[in-house]
Order: sequence, then structure tokens, then C-alpha cells
Amino acid sequence: MHVSHLSLADFRSYARVEVALDPGVTAFVGPNGQGKTNLVEAVGYLATLGSHRVSSDAPLVRMGADRAIIRAALVQGERQQLVELELNPGKANRARINRSSQVRPRDVLGIVRTVLFAPEDLALVKGDPGERRRFLDELITARVPRMAGVRADYDRVLKQRNTLLKTAALARRHGGRQMDLSTLDVWDQHLARAGAELLAQRLDLIATLRPLADKAYEQLAPGGGPLGLEYRGSAGEAMAAATNREELYGALLAALGEARKSEIERGVTLVGPHRDDLLLKLGQLPAKGYASHGESWSYALALRLASYELLRAEGNEPVLVLDDVFAELDARRRERLAELVAPGEQVLVTAAVDDDVPGVLVGARYAVSGGTVERVDR
Ligand SMILES: Nc1ncnc2c1ncn2[C@@H]1O[C@H](COP(=O)(O)OP(=O)(O)OP(=O)(O)O)[C@@H](O)[C@H]1O
Ligand SMILES: [Mg+2]
Repeated sequence: MHVSHLSLADFRSYARVEVALDPGVTAFVGPNGQGKTNLVEAVGYLATLGSHRVSSDAPLVRMGADRAIIRAALVQGERQQLVELELNPGKANRARINRSSQVRPRDVLGIVRTVLFAPEDLALVKGDPGERRRFLDELITARVPRMAGVRADYDRVLKQRNTLLKTAALARRHGGRQMDLSTLDVWDQHLARAGAELLAQRLDLIATLRPLADKAYEQLAPGGGPLGLEYRGSAGEAMAAATNREELYGALLAALGEARKSEIERGVTLVGPHRDDLLLKLGQLPAKGYASHGESWSYALALRLASYELLRAEGNEPVLVLDDVFAELDARRRERLAELVAPGEQVLVTAAVDDDVPGVLVGARYAVSGGTVERVDR
């Protein structure tokens, strides 16, 4: 698929902007702070309902405005669609598909597919487990949009279960009346049910991604691998032995049972996908804490390229977004990356100067400056 038109109102630095887009490569070029990333961030938001830079919506709304609108026209084969999101920080966001009446924002997931690579992705390798969980879960949602509902269920159950545990922990500490813990059993089942579904998807994703990431890394940094992607589950060994969703459910329930005493002491859920991690190994060593800056960068890029290949192989080709990527790479890696991505259906690139966009990436160019986005004839 590709985006044929992007329209923003009160999004980030833009009061209003309209950008017509072609398939193939489009480069947004301009000095720092002019709004290049803001444009591609909006495209990414349509795909994930989140920004790759901030965890809340408030910074996405133009200072002084109270809501932002992202609208995009999409083309997938013969099919055209219009997607619109209204961001209302502090209130519910709204969505529309094809100008029809409102739908839940979540219903938009899966329509726009993107793979976005940006400097922030270094955190995939160097950052906290939450970064890697988000990577996995966003990709899962792109593959299987109904998983957005499962993730929401899981988060809701987790929150309620934590509230219950906190109450139990407080009661215990202050010598209050012991809580009736049978309610907790019910929450355990709900948590394990949604958790097992999420776990099954994560494990399947990692197995599919592993060879693709290895291949991408080899293409970017020949001889530098191999990569090792290993899931580190908080449910321990029982989980490692589980081969299907039912067994994962059983493993999670058992692990919750074992953790119950410490959970009541600490007042928080200690087992489940929200506590898991994806261990990234480069050769024999963990990448986090060991890999060099350049290696970490290539690793993160390999994960994104692998995501791109995966979504591509599974049907609807995603839009590839490369935000400020080329300036970070040495000449050889730059050329390799450019050759890899050049045939993509739509590739959106941002760069501070023309020279940062490799020659093989021929296509449309836009100059971004002072809130305007203007096509440059070349
Ligand atoms: N909510 C907002 N309201 C108004 N302006 C904003 C808002 N959020 C960000 N900006 C402004 O947008 C600009 C940053 O835009 P952006 O990140 O797209 O720059 P860029 O062109 O990608 O720059 P660089 O080359 O440094 O990456 C900053 O000047 C910032 O102050
Ligand atoms: Mg930028």
C-alpha cells in the first residue's frame, strides 16, 4: 500500500499542511527543526496509534490548539481508502474510515501499515525491556489487527489485578482483615487467558523474524552476525516448554500461583507478558551492554528491515519510513541500505541535506522549511 495524500491540522508544528505523495521514494529535506520528522511521525501514528517519539498524545497537538487531525488517503492495489484520526489529549480520540460515521480508533489499525526506522530505535537495543515489548506488540498488531483488542484486554485486567493486589498488600501490612483471595483466582484466569494469546503471538513472531533479522544484518554488516533473538519470559521454564496457547495458559496460571505470595507482599503482578523481555544477542554476547554504537545501530535497523520483509511477505506491503537514518551510516552501509529499500512500494525518507539521500533513491523531493512543504523540481 501507499499513502497518496497526507493532510494535517494542528499536528505538531503544522497549523495546516497538505502533501500529495507518489509511490516510490519521497525525500523530505530541510534544516533541523523544520518539521520533517513531524510529517512522518503522523504517518506512523496512523499505523500504530502512537508516536515513535513520545508516549502521550499531548505533544502531538500544536501548541495552543486543543486537538490535532491526521488525515490520509491510501491506495492498496485498486482500492482507495480515507482514514482520519482526531487526537484529543485527555479525552477519547476519534476515528473515521472513508468519511463514514465514527469508528473506534483501534478499528483503523491494520489499514495503514508502516515500518518506521528512526534514531530513537537505538533504544530497541540499548533501552529497557518495555522498548522491545512495544516493538513486538506493534508488529503483532500490524500482522493481526484483532490483537489490539487482546492487548487492551490484557492491560485492563492487569490494572484491575494490580489494584486488588495493592489493596491486599496494604491490608496485610496494616494488619487489616485478610482479603478474600478467591477473586484473585478469577483475575488470574483472565490474565492468563489474554496473556497466553499475546505470548503465543510473540513467540510465533520471533520465530518468523529470526532468519529475516539475521539476513538483514548480514546484508548491512557482512560477517558481523549471527544475531540471536531469545524470548525471556517471566513465567519461567514451564513457559519455555509450552508449545501452544493452551499450554501457555497453563504455564502462566501455574507461574501466577507460584508468585502469589510475593505478589501479595509487593502488591503488583510479577508474572506475565508485561514483565517479559526479548534478549538480543550479537554472536555470543548480549547486544545490550556489549555491542558498539555502530553495531547497535545496525542491529536496530536489521530488526526494522526484518519487520518490513515480514509484513511484505505476508501480503499488504507497508510504507517504509527512514527518519534521519542515512547521516548515521558510513558510506558502505548507506549504499547497502539504499539498494535494499529502493524497490519498496513507498519509501519516505527525511534528511537534513540533499547529500544525505543516496543517489539510488531517486524520486520526489520536498523542501521542508518554516512550516511549508514544497515539492522541488529536479
Ligand atoms: N506540539 C507542538 N506545537 C508546536 N510546535 C511543535 C510541537 N511539537 C514540536 N514542535 C516543533 O517542531 C519542530 C521539530 O520538528 P521536527 O522534529 O519535525 O524537526 P526535523 O525537521 O525533523 O528536524 P531534525 O532535522 O533536527 O530532525 C521543533 O521546532 C518543535 O519546536
Ligand atoms: Mg527529524
